Amino acid sequence: MRREFIAALERVTADRGADKEDIVVLLTAQPGGEEEALYRQADALRVRYVGDEVHLRGVIEFSNYCRRRCRYCGLTADNHALPRYRMDPEEILAAARRGVDLGYKTIVLQSGEDPWYTGEVLAEIVACIKEWGVAVTLCVGERTREEYELWRRAGADRYLLKHETANPELYSRLHPGMSWDKRMACLRWLKELGYQVGSGNIVGLPGQTLEDLADDILLMRELEVEMAGIGPFIPHPHTTLRTHPAGSLDLTYRVLAVTRLVIPWAHLPATTAVGTLSPNGRQMALQRGANVVMPNLTPKKYRAAYQIYPGKICLEEAPEDCRRCLEGMIRGLGRIVATHPGHGLKGRRPCRRAAPAEG
Ligand code: 5AD
Ligand code: FES
Repeated sequence: MRREFIAALERVTADRGADKEDIVVLLTAQPGGEEEALYRQADALRVRYVGDEVHLRGVIEFSNYCRRRCRYCGLTADNHALPRYRMDPEEILAAARRGVDLGYKTIVLQSGEDPWYTGEVLAEIVACIKEWGVAVTLCVGERTREEYELWRRAGADRYLLKHETANPELYSRLHPGMSWDKRMACLRWLKELGYQVGSGNIVGLPGQTLEDLADDILLMRELEVEMAGIGPFIPHPHTTLRTHPAGSLDLTYRVLAVTRLVIPWAHLPATTAVGTLSPNGRQMALQRGANVVMPNLTPKKYRAAYQIYPGKICLEEAPEDCRRCLEGMIRGLGRIVATHPGHGLKGRRPCRRAAPAEG
């Protein structure tokens, strides 16, 4: 192991410091000893801060219409080859009920940016799901502050709005017609309104550097996010980035592990994108800092059309199949399926019972 690597790992682990140079060094962890040391520390901090429970957040992808043109995403409005669908409110509620009956304590409502669902329509859906005693997470992109406020009053607990990249110049290249400042304004509003806010980034974007990835982690620390979704870029054939290579899975694991060290309280999902690039990707992520999995609750007939990137897992499985699969996966890792919503833990002290990690 390089001396500078050991020193950086000690510093970042000791005080959860936010030193960018240290983070960059950790992101260069070499296969073998360095990666193992990094993953061991990430797993140890995961145990101390969020324990052995794994939270299952059931996701309903209720519309694949999107008014945006993000250059990496298969749902881009420019993709005319994609069949579009919208679930009506009754269908969304039926899917949510299925998730509640499977024991999921959080229902995530996700869609492209689709103004067909007005503030009022979504508020009504949120209020209905809240009656079943579960947490509700919204992930529907940039909307007005008034709409965010309406949904919060309807009972929405959390909001996911990935910043995608902390490099404003790269952000504007990838998001025609969108603005980095607006993104930050939305994240600020959501925090002000009392949402547990989740953000996240993509690893392996064109031109992205290790410094950019360090900035992603530092930005999420500064925002005090409760959740950070970190996934590799996967090229989609109907986007302008179709020839750009997929992000490195190993680099994605390193970003995940370093995020656990820098933002130890955060809920970190083992993302579907990681599971898409490798059959045991989610297991690996769960052993390298992650503590959340997001099973799909979207009715089967719509699933293939929610094609953010190609090759997404669980296209054929029924919600019950994924439930069983994940239970087995989690138990196989010696972990436990959480039986409570797993709300934000920011500011919580590490668990006293567990001993601090050694070397
Ligand atoms: N590869 C990986 N992740 C992607 N996303 C969108 N397109 C891709 C892609 N091609 C991610 C974005 C978005 C989330 C819903 O999916 O981070 O926020
Ligand atoms: Fe869907 Fe494993 S999570 S089959």
